[in-house]
Amino acid sequence: MAAQMSNFQLLVTLTQAKESAWMGLTGRISEAMLELTVPDWRMRSVYVCGPNGFMQHVRETLEGMGFPMEQYQEESFGGAPVLRMTKQSVAEPLEKTVTGNDPVAVAIAFKDSNHQVSTDGSLSILEVAEQEGIAIRSACRMGACGACKVKTCGTKVRYEVTPAALSENDRADGHILACVAYPIEAVEVHI
Ligand code: FES
Repeated sequence: MAAQMSNFQLLVTLTQAKESAWMGLTGRISEAMLELTVPDWRMRSVYVCGPNGFMQHVRETLEGMGFPMEQYQEESFGGAPVLRMTKQSVAEPLEKTVTGNDPVAVAIAFKDSNHQVSTDGSLSILEVAEQEGIAIRSACRMGACGACKVKTCGTKVRYEVTPAALSENDRADGHILACVAYPIEAVEVHI
């Protein structure tokens, strides 16, 4: 899709094109895509905003292309660093012996996706979902917009910042803001 004003052109690329009728760009931003759509990319300024993985991909792509990175800006909402996790099927119970200084393992079950992982609780539920390739909406990543609101089975989570976009009714219904919610016990999330 392309929308054009006098000095502005919008291009959209779908990374998960489910509509076979889609005739526009598909896939992640790449050198070939930029050469095709913005042939004077070396002269441009680049502003990137989005999930950490997306921004890292764009940054590395541009660096690999020899883009002048002093013309590159990205916005960060303070996402946590990546850490390792162990995957398990939903059918398997979470078993881990915690000793000494071991981090406490916490299971997150993404019920609608039939997927479960074990984490040490240092990543938000949104970040865990993104790392596991589970589709989840997000925007501000700081508890302010409500885009990442998801329903749980009612388990407790820890919030590092006030979940401003979560009402009392939302809480009573078992909703959380995944971007600022950290698991403190086994969680079942409906995504
Ligand atoms: S992404 Fe805005 S509240 Fe979570």
